[in-house]
Amino acid sequence: MKISCVLLLLINLQHVRTDLQYDSCSYWTSSKGYGLPEFTERRVLNDVTVYYYDSRTRSKTPCPDWINTTAGKDEWGIIHHWSDYNKDFFTLGFQSASKQFNQTGSLSDQNIYQGSGCCSLYPNGTYRGFLTSAFNGKDFLSLDISSRMFVAAVPQAVVYKNLKERDPATINVLAAFYKTRCLDRLNIFKQAPEVLIRKAPEVRIFEQQKADSITVTCHVTGFYPRVIQVVWLGPDLQPVDEGVTDVLPNEDGTYQTRKSVIVPEEDVGEHTYSCVVLHSSVPDNITRVWGGEKAGGMAVWISLVCICLLAAGIGLVVWWRCRTRDAVI
Ligand SMILES: *[C@@H]1O[C@H](CO)[C@@H](O)[C@H](O)[C@H]1NC(C)=O
Ligand SMILES: *[C@@H]1O[C@H](CO)[C@@H](O)[C@H](O)[C@H]1NC(C)=O
Ligand SMILES: *[C@@H]1O[C@H](CO)[C@@H](O)[C@H](O)[C@H]1NC(C)=O
Ligand SMILES: *[C@@H]1O[C@H](CO)[C@@H](O)[C@H](O)[C@H]1NC(C)=O
Repeated sequence: MKISCVLLLLINLQHVRTDLQYDSCSYWTSSKGYGLPEFTERRVLNDVTVYYYDSRTRSKTPCPDWINTTAGKDEWGIIHHWSDYNKDFFTLGFQSASKQFNQTGSLSDQNIYQGSGCCSLYPNGTYRGFLTSAFNGKDFLSLDISSRMFVAAVPQAVVYKNLKERDPATINVLAAFYKTRCLDRLNIFKQAPEVLIRKAPEVRIFEQQKADSITVTCHVTGFYPRVIQVVWLGPDLQPVDEGVTDVLPNEDGTYQTRKSVIVPEEDVGEHTYSCVVLHSSVPDNITRVWGGEKAGGMAVWISLVCICLLAAGIGLVVWWRCRTRDAVI
């Protein structure tokens, strides 16, 4: 039974992938009352901002040095061109939404229209794109890529949906982009130096004694990028944190996480347990083994100390006896 559990874990581990999931996203805002520029546009790959534009500075990020192919430079030109279109698109969306929500009496002093368009490349090679927007944090309008129609999430969005659908040529361009073309851009952004950074994790094990068990924690820190797998292997382990364990940011831009398991007292010293860490910065894995030490281990040490003390005592008595005998003679 125990053996089959271990085997099962090992088999599952073979399916664990640490290949990165890439998310190439664009974020737009059009707002009033937040102190933000009227329009902002940010293009991001995973955690890294690759491109920025806003209506206040009106400066578009120039083509970076790391883009050295013609296709890459062309793509950058397309991004510049679309910044102007997006500014109009989102300003209009903001105005339309404000007007509609004002009519239903639910407009406040601070209003924001936010859009996001993402293309995600999964480790299994498939990808997915979407374009959606929200007004004051609630779903507003999204693009249905297959039907090439906008979908209004609230009645207030219908006016803007109808306005946008008067321009089917642009919808076709957007749908085609999120259907396939976005992957080309993602593959260009993937080459950004900040995206290529890899930092290997430091792995440390510590234990905490409980009444009839020991909680063993594998602490993993200093790694980049964020995607990581931490797995405990060994018999009779009970997980402490059910479900997903948090990955938290460190101050230096790296990440940390931990995984704890409970080892029953009767198993301590009987088996070894391994914390296996898989990360894109290391070719294989980082494995730390924890063997534990039976409470019996302590007893052995106590007996040893006792034996030493006893031996010392006997020695003292013998020495004293010899001394007194000398004195008598
Ligand atoms: C582009 O940059 C990459 C990485 O810096 C380099 O390996 C490649 O040779 C460059 N290609 C050209 C055409 O300059
Ligand atoms: C909201 O409606 C009121 C009354 O109709 C109007 O005076 C005001 O300008 C509207 N505000 C916006 C932001 O549309
Ligand atoms: C690939 O992975 C994604 C995300 O985990 C999943 O939604 C999709 O179904 C997978 N596709 C295939 C073909 O396995
Ligand atoms: C970890 O890597 C070593 C080689 O470095 C390999 O023998 C071992 O099977 C790997 N363990 C797991 C659990 O992937």
